[in-house]
Amino acid sequence: MDPIINAVLKPKSIAIIGASTKPNKIGFKVVENLKNCGYTGPVYPINPDAEEILGYKCYPNIKDVPYVVDMAVVTVPAQVVPTITREAGEKGVKGLSIITSGFSEVGDHALEEEVVKIAREYGMRIIGPNIIGVLSNSDKMNASFTNFLPLEGKAALVSQSGALLIAMDAATYTRRVGFDKMISIGNQADLDFADLIAYLNEDENTTCITLYIEGIKDGPRFMQEARKCTKPIIALKAGSSAHGAAAAASHTGSLAGSAKVYEAAFEQAGVAQALDLNDMFDTTLALSLQPTMKGDNLLIVTNGGGVGVLATDAAEKYGLPLKFAPEDVQAELRKHMPSFGSAKNPVDITGQAGLEGYYEGVKYAYAHPWVDGVVVLYCETSVTNPQEIAEAIYNALQESGASGKPVAVSLIGGDRCETAMKWLIERDIPTYNAPDLAVKAMASLRKQNEMLKTAHNGLYKPDDVDSEKARQIIAGARAKGRNALTEVEAKHVFKAYGLPVAPTDLAHNEDEAVKLAEQIGYPVVMKIVSPDILHKSDAGAVKVNIKNEQGVRDAWKLILENSLAYKADAEIDGVAIQEMAPWATEVIVGSVNDATFGPTLMFGLGGIFVEVMKDVTFKVAPIDEATALDMQSEIKSSKILQGVRGELPRDQKALAKVLAHYSYMIYDLQDEIAESDANPVIVYEDGQGVSVVDARIILTKK
Ligand code: COA
Repeated sequence: MDPIINAVLKPKSIAIIGASTKPNKIGFKVVENLKNCGYTGPVYPINPDAEEILGYKCYPNIKDVPYVVDMAVVTVPAQVVPTITREAGEKGVKGLSIITSGFSEVGDHALEEEVVKIAREYGMRIIGPNIIGVLSNSDKMNASFTNFLPLEGKAALVSQSGALLIAMDAATYTRRVGFDKMISIGNQADLDFADLIAYLNEDENTTCITLYIEGIKDGPRFMQEARKCTKPIIALKAGSSAHGAAAAASHTGSLAGSAKVYEAAFEQAGVAQALDLNDMFDTTLALSLQPTMKGDNLLIVTNGGGVGVLATDAAEKYGLPLKFAPEDVQAELRKHMPSFGSAKNPVDITGQAGLEGYYEGVKYAYAHPWVDGVVVLYCETSVTNPQEIAEAIYNALQESGASGKPVAVSLIGGDRCETAMKWLIERDIPTYNAPDLAVKAMASLRKQNEMLKTAHNGLYKPDDVDSEKARQIIAGARAKGRNALTEVEAKHVFKAYGLPVAPTDLAHNEDEAVKLAEQIGYPVVMKIVSPDILHKSDAGAVKVNIKNEQGVRDAWKLILENSLAYKADAEIDGVAIQEMAPWATEVIVGSVNDATFGPTLMFGLGGIFVEVMKDVTFKVAPIDEATALDMQSEIKSSKILQGVRGELPRDQKALAKVLAHYSYMIYDLQDEIAESDANPVIVYEDGQGVSVVDARIILTKK
């Protein structure tokens, strides 16, 4: 654990620079909150005019404090912050929590950079600026201007929005989701999400990390730390709509990368994405209290058929469809229910079920090796008391002799259920007031288990690549003043990264074209190669299915004629002669450089699927072949690759290899490639491979 960051987040002593004697000021509130919430370390208010605040002795300047100061909370106006940062540095303060607004979020990047630069000179770390402060139950520390510590619990919240943090702090009590820490990080001038993930991963009081994100500054570093993290991470990403992204930009100065790329990056790094604030609380409750679900066998125990059906629907919706329990499980469960109950799955112990039914049913089910996780549902009835049912469920789990499997409960009813829910949550059992929420919680525990498995894999790197050769081709194009490669050059770069490009060579004259066509074998395709004609078909500069020498000679003349008609002064390198790949399923592979996450792979089926239906999926590069197979099943039209209407499946393995190699190419050449695509790539029947027919690479500006 980084000792400086630890000193800032778990300080043994705190100064408040800009502490005030006036009760309505933020500089007063922070002192008051530290005192009222029970912080036990020394507190040093700094104010040029005051003698004491709330019984703490005041000092006119941080340098006058005769003791060690771990962290200083800053509540002076923005223009004064550089001066006090230097003074804090000279004093040897380890870090600052800068509450003050008025930096990059209002466009003053220079002021923010100046403060960070000064802090770096003294080895100080900064939280903020533009924050509420830092709260920690385990340290009884409320170094913020929100009035109270959150409901005690095991999660940690890191929020880019201060106001949302204040609201969530209060909501922890009504939602009954406990947090040990709440950290407001505002503009992330220095410490950012990645630093805090690394820190909280080692924090003994944190079991799960919840993030409210408007923008990530360094996407690859965020992914790297999230991948290393062994605790669940939940992210609520705001600003997915264009208007929302603009609002986020003016709120914390965040630049929004594409929402789809964020989604992909979270998934690849094992981060669970919350859909909204409610989902963020519900998922945090489950992931902070329960172990992940290791297998797919979910068993539901219910006293109500209706909620059982709702839960069954939810299980399918959230990707954890129910299976019938094995016969031995059913036989045992039948002993604890009336004859009209059902022991299949959901296990309906009926509305007549009392304490014994719940106790015996849950105890047996939880301990059975077939069961990977249990959801217990209860509808309030006149013959049962919700509190007693809650106790029966809890005792059953405790006395089952099993552990390490997740459980979630839903108590559906009135006030008595509310009280019983609270009782269960206090005993670390996530409990919800609707059946679908309990099932959704379980599905997130299952998904977390799977995501953590792949997230920890190292970065993919294929063996058979020749980066040097690719870089030479690119350097050659740059030397000629070009920022786009010709198709032939792009194909040679693809080839250097092990991609199966359809054999293509450049002919400089008609005779050479005939020679190359004969070498490649008829039929061939001929296309103009000119840096000035990127849309070759529009220019009438592509001819396909050329079957013999005469065809080559005719096509040569026509292509040159059309090209010059399209652009009279076009610079022409020659004509590409290419093997005519037989037709099969067309897909598109492409890349963009995302503003946040860098080189990102795009994949979809060709033609209308991509153009009209926008049926494409993204992954941050590089990806391995297993992830590339997942990518193929993510598109809506994936069934076409799996084989429809009597067609054989396409060669998805070969396509996975292409996607993985392509992703490594754009990752390895990220300083050179701004944008690229292989369009189309023809995918043949299983075992017959893949052929990259066209290639385009646009270079980065240098
Ligand atoms: N050293 C120590 N104390 C100093 C100082 C210095 N160099 N310069 C000023 N102070 C004292 C002032 O005397 C004042 O104390 P007083 O009230 O006893 O006179 C105190 O620091 C605060 O300074 P003041 O000029 O009165 O500022 P303010 O309290 O009106 O506002 C901020 C200061 C930081 C609260 C304000 O600039 C701000 O940024 N507000 C927004 C904060 C926010 O919302 N953040 C979260 C966003 S989500």
